[in-house]
Amino acid sequence: MNVKQLPPLFNFEAMEKTAVFSNGLTGQDILSVSQFDKDKLDYIFARAREMREMVERVGGTDLLKGHVLACLFYEPSTRTSSSFIAAMERLGGGVIPITQGVKFSSVSKGETLADTVRTLEQYADVIVLRHPEMGAAKLAADYASVPVINAGDGPGEHPTQALLDLFTIREELGRIDGLKIAMVGDLRYGRTVHSLTKLLLQYNVSLRFVSPEILRLPLNIMNQVIDAGINVRETHDVADVIENADVLYVTRVQKERFSDLSQYEEVKDHYEITPELMQKAKKKMIVMHPLPRVGEIHYSVDHDPRAAYFRQVRNGMFIRMALLAAVLGKA
Ligand code: NCD
Repeated sequence: MNVKQLPPLFNFEAMEKTAVFSNGLTGQDILSVSQFDKDKLDYIFARAREMREMVERVGGTDLLKGHVLACLFYEPSTRTSSSFIAAMERLGGGVIPITQGVKFSSVSKGETLADTVRTLEQYADVIVLRHPEMGAAKLAADYASVPVINAGDGPGEHPTQALLDLFTIREELGRIDGLKIAMVGDLRYGRTVHSLTKLLLQYNVSLRFVSPEILRLPLNIMNQVIDAGINVRETHDVADVIENADVLYVTRVQKERFSDLSQYEEVKDHYEITPELMQKAKKKMIVMHPLPRVGEIHYSVDHDPRAAYFRQVRNGMFIRMALLAAVLGKA
């Protein structure tokens, strides 16, 4: 069967009018997960499912034809930058990719972030920014008149990753309420952990935080967890949580955030999820990782159907398609 001959799945023209008023995201910067209540989450997840169905049937659409995304990355990236680019292209839009190191842009000549975003907005309708400093996305948003999407601001937040993480949990396990979620690794500097934890506070979940002492969750986030009345515990040992966890969210130790590399060396090999450890886990649970991994999950775990990290990667594209369409008022 030639899939191109299938009739269009959705009447985007008709959806557009209501979407502009209903999603509340049109024209907005996406800086933090605190902007997402359950209605917005449900909205984005529903759109992401539609995007998945559309991509699987016809590959792409021209919903964002005539729109341009500037992808400005001051830190390395594979998944986040590629998925934003793929998302824009599958929606028929164009991309200015400044992702292979800003060293080739005028940033290397000393241009400020403020001037760079005020330049890019002359060409683009939305800017995706990754930057090593916490608060950089907010600063860029203060200068830019087009929406800025935070693709990671140092150890701060990574809201679009948290959306795709939550979406993955929902799609894999069918629910979020009632789950026991264990976060493992660098909880101090891991911005994906910070954003996902904050999002999960809207749900009835139990949280387990597993890290070496020096990489514990920052106090201000732990206080938010406690204030939300969440059942929470901290431990140094994955073995304490593996049997009961529905979700094991594993992270890399963020070497680039350490000022003292000897401290990194001390903690870098603290955990490894192995097939032996997985034998103790529930039959119906998932292992997630925002990736890249640098030894936290043994390669032989990849064959375990509970290893969800590459499905998680794919979900990132659908979530970012949904988000771009919403922000540009074309949901
Ligand atoms: C994460 C990041 O950049 O914060 N990667 C990603 O976006 N998928 C996690 C990491 O780098 O460890």
